[in-house]
Amino acid sequence: MVEVKKVDTEVQLQFKVPETDYNSILEGENVVIETLHLNFYYTPEVHALKAITIKIPEKKVTAFIGPSGCGKSTLLRTFNRMNDLIPGAYLTGKVLIEGQDIYSNNIRLEELRKKVGMVFQKSNPFPMSIWENVAFGPKVNGITDKSLLDEMVESALKQADLWKEVKDRLHQSALDLSGGQQQRLCIARTLANKPDIILMDEPASALDPISTGKIEETIEELKQNYTIVIVTHNMQQAARISDYTAFMMLGELIEYDKTKTIFTNPKVKLTEDYITGRFG
Ligand SMILES: Nc1ncnc2c1ncn2[C@@H]1O[C@H](COP(=O)(O)OP(=O)(O)OP(=O)(O)O)[C@@H](O)[C@H]1O
Ligand SMILES: [Mg+2]
Repeated sequence: MVEVKKVDTEVQLQFKVPETDYNSILEGENVVIETLHLNFYYTPEVHALKAITIKIPEKKVTAFIGPSGCGKSTLLRTFNRMNDLIPGAYLTGKVLIEGQDIYSNNIRLEELRKKVGMVFQKSNPFPMSIWENVAFGPKVNGITDKSLLDEMVESALKQADLWKEVKDRLHQSALDLSGGQQQRLCIARTLANKPDIILMDEPASALDPISTGKIEETIEELKQNYTIVIVTHNMQQAARISDYTAFMMLGELIEYDKTKTIFTNPKVKLTEDYITGRFG
């Protein structure tokens, strides 16, 4: 696993920004993911996340935006320890999920990854049937009853808004689906594991506008039951689908607020410059 160093490094921040008042921004929300002064280093020289303290509310969509290389994917991946296998990488600070320190020794990684599912930029269906793709996680978790698996597959495909399109071809190869369908299949595969949290790293960036619209509708539906964190380069998409937005630059969290505030009345000039397309 990625080494957790105890020393809380003194971090020189480049940007002077006002402190985020999470209590007032997140009033009435239940916080499920929280980082405390999180620093992530790929190597001692590549300091990808700098003193990030962020809170993410339950059953809402939170978007991470910012220029390429600012650390969006790195931050997202710390939430289910997807960075674990990178040799030499280490972090300081904490990541809490439902109040639990996920980098502590007593965390079971399979359980964490089940609870915190992930959908990647490039859809990655397994080279097997649609049914087998979705049933994969439940089977790994020991479910063998065929009719129960059928039910789980149907339910996950319905939630991912794919059922109608594939119900008559469940046993055909997943690789024959269109790009947009493959991405919704990957969402269904994640849902079949019954996660609480779904991390999505640019899930629609490789898709045409119609497929993108479908993914956005799916996310809109899913947030009733799941906490969703999405990385996107598409400002309109962030504005359309997210409830809260975090703007990052060069590894720092610059501004966090309700999406509406970020897009209409940001407090930090850098945020305004970015969302109005002045750089990035
Ligand atoms: N495996 C790695 N080894 C070393 N450095 C890395 C690695 N992955 C990312 N980085 C560096 O860490 C920083 C943050 O990268 P990250 O991928 O999190 O950015 P991002 O905001 O997701 O960018 P993009 O919008 O292009 O996807 C960048 O400087 C990047 O070059
Ligand atoms: Mg990225």
